[in-house]
Amino acid sequence: MLQNKKILLAVTGGIAVYKACDLTSKLTQKGADVRVIMTESACEFVSPLTFQALSRNPVYTDTFDEKDPKKIAHIDLADWAEIAIIAPATANTLSKVANGLGDDMLTTTLLATRATIYVAPAMNVHMYQNKAVIENMKKLTNFGYNFIEPGAGYLACGYVGKGRLEEPTTIIEVIEKHENKKGILKGKKVLITAGPTREGVDPVRFFSNRSTGKMGFALAEVAANFGAEVILVSGPVDLEVKNTHIKQIKVVTAEEMYQAVHENYAFADIVIKAAAVADYRPKQTHDQKMKKSDDALIFEMERTKDILKSLGEKKDKQFLVGFAAETENQIANGKRKLIKKNLDAIVINNVSEAGAGFGTDTNIVTYLDKNLKEHPFSIDSKEAISEKIYNQIIKTIKDEA
Ligand code: CTP
Repeated sequence: MLQNKKILLAVTGGIAVYKACDLTSKLTQKGADVRVIMTESACEFVSPLTFQALSRNPVYTDTFDEKDPKKIAHIDLADWAEIAIIAPATANTLSKVANGLGDDMLTTTLLATRATIYVAPAMNVHMYQNKAVIENMKKLTNFGYNFIEPGAGYLACGYVGKGRLEEPTTIIEVIEKHENKKGILKGKKVLITAGPTREGVDPVRFFSNRSTGKMGFALAEVAANFGAEVILVSGPVDLEVKNTHIKQIKVVTAEEMYQAVHENYAFADIVIKAAAVADYRPKQTHDQKMKKSDDALIFEMERTKDILKSLGEKKDKQFLVGFAAETENQIANGKRKLIKKNLDAIVINNVSEAGAGFGTDTNIVTYLDKNLKEHPFSIDSKEAISEKIYNQIIKTIKDEA
């Protein structure tokens, strides 16, 4: 899988540099083309000559050491790389990269590359737990960097704890696994809806629900990471799209969501309706703020359009997936909805279960396929659940092809 892959290994200054030598050797043995960049501090631990011999390529240490006048070395190297690995990654380099600093060959190249970046940190246990370091790692994760967490054990500084650079074989295993998944939605166009809708009453009030959009956003991010072209139609939420390849269309009401989804339906190969669309809206809305009175207040509500049902009626090539938020008789209700709305699958979640449903970072769902076969997914992050959903979808599409 790593055969002929163009891998940039960014080596920063820590005692674990010796393990990066082993990593270089193992990657080269797998047939990868490895180019190494070292920081000044990394060169204090191991000579560039070691990496040159192991990678059989020149090692880069200086931004201004321009060997070929026709090229700018750090840009050339950044464009060349398909995969970049920062190993070991020190707290200092994490901080620089997280804040967009480019003050040496390694950081300028990382700033310029569009390669998939993996980061394997190595540092003292207390440094690893430092709030600033944690913040930088969070920031980089949001930028799409893939972390390979350090292992726990005896550290060179004398402490025992988490901070030891992960073993090269494990680093390679993680990268291979991730690279394998990356292309599974390549060439697919995915349309996702997320969040609640808001149905206005007057200029200050609306009807809505408890959806936060986390599941729909996770589905969008994972689809984009798997190589899909993604359109995300989202109701009002406090979330931001991380992957810059996702096209986000913001809507407020069920009617606006209906229009946005139908405008983009022809585009889609896969449609996932994770949004919690309001089923009803106030029949009458008010231009001015409603004033209270001593009487009880009764709203007459009218039905909104069932977007998913309308998509099921008009379906041709699309693989159509609905969501069902249930508090009882989940599977029976899910089956009924799948049939009624002409879906290819439905993801059922019991919103009253701890660790599932609205606002949580995790979910517990049952994926019900068209043949009404149940695939239960136990508690996991919404991203991991999204991966499982796409694996099922791809499997069905392949089986039916
Ligand atoms: N949905 C939709 N348009 C609506 C309402 C729901 O597209 N006006 C979609 C949701 O995005 C979700 C699925 O339909 O994918 C949920 O099915 P639905 O039967 O509407 O669920 P509930 O609103 O929970 O229905 P019920 O009140 O019958 O439980």
